[in-house]
Amino acid sequence: AGRAVVVGVGHYLPERVVPNSEFEATLDTSDEWIRTRSGIERRHFAAEGETTSDLATYAAEAALKDAGLTADDIDAIILATSTADLTFPSAATMVQARLGMTGGFAFDVQAVCAGFVYALANANALILSGQARRVLVIGAETFSRIMDWSDRSTCVLFGDGAGAVILEAREGKGTPQDRGILSTDLNSDGRYKDLLYVDGGVSTQNTGYLRMQGNQVFRHAVDKLAKTAETALEKAGLTSADIDWIVPHQANIRIIQGTAKKMGLSMDHVVVTVQDHGNTSAASIPLALSVGKARGQIKQGDLIVTEAIGGGLAWGAVVLRW
Ligand code: ACO
Repeated sequence: AGRAVVVGVGHYLPERVVPNSEFEATLDTSDEWIRTRSGIERRHFAAEGETTSDLATYAAEAALKDAGLTADDIDAIILATSTADLTFPSAATMVQARLGMTGGFAFDVQAVCAGFVYALANANALILSGQARRVLVIGAETFSRIMDWSDRSTCVLFGDGAGAVILEAREGKGTPQDRGILSTDLNSDGRYKDLLYVDGGVSTQNTGYLRMQGNQVFRHAVDKLAKTAETALEKAGLTSADIDWIVPHQANIRIIQGTAKKMGLSMDHVVVTVQDHGNTSAASIPLALSVGKARGQIKQGDLIVTEAIGGGLAWGAVVLRW
């Protein structure tokens, strides 16, 4: 049985770092409120003119370098984003061109904050079906472009950034000890649209801004995340006790802590970057994978569970051995 194994990881963060205190000048908010309610201390914002495909390209280049590969070695690019540069073509094909890759295929996946988990599951399926041998999976966002800067309940929570991994088909015995993606679990329920959405789009002729009933999203998050993670573990024939690292979507430290607790794991087993990045939507998990590896937390052979929930609602989990 073949497996899709991570052979490279990288990330990119825009230069501009914005501390919580910067919002105090224009909004009725405080560093204290933002820290205690969300765990966020600072976030990066893209420069004027800097787009999602720029961020994605830099993260992809870092992942290629880490893997010791060039763009010619890649069969497919899947880019998870809700903030593509243009309505079409996909941001993924823009990255393809920027990397100098003229073969293979590229497309975007849109599942908001769960986008990277959805993209990983798609990449895994392409590899297991023999359609692709090496897939570059990117999460990249410029959520600063869809912020309503007068809405203190949303604009302090999000940031811009990108992360990428390269998955490669490898033969193996197919045991839980073999490296690679062991299982995936995807879910959505469109009845919850009004909890988190952008109030505009192409078909409505208006770009729109992010709208969120944060406390309502919070109510769903911990239960759904713990459940999808446990379902994915079960599919792999494993339990929470086998986990080395939870690498969660980084929306809010209280959701991250609540989910770990529900899964019976201490925070010593969780990669946390929300304090430095804010919520970067589909970019947050690959960013955390890359930073977690650079910090020396994630090592080859570790069992990792990634989990995410966002607009849709859409949520899911991936179990992989690094
Ligand atoms: N500064 C000061 N006060 C604020 C701010 C702010 N920036 N924002 C809101 N408040 C106020 C509210 O107005 C409210 O005041 P009131 O009680 O007088 O009405 C009070 O703080 C409490 O508001 P809540 O929304 O109940 O606060 P809560 O503890 O739920 O925290 C938060 C809000 C941080 C948004 C939290 O609910 C959260 O993180 N939710 C989940 C977000 C998430 O996970 N999103 C999904 C992923 S994103 C994606 O898919 C794109």
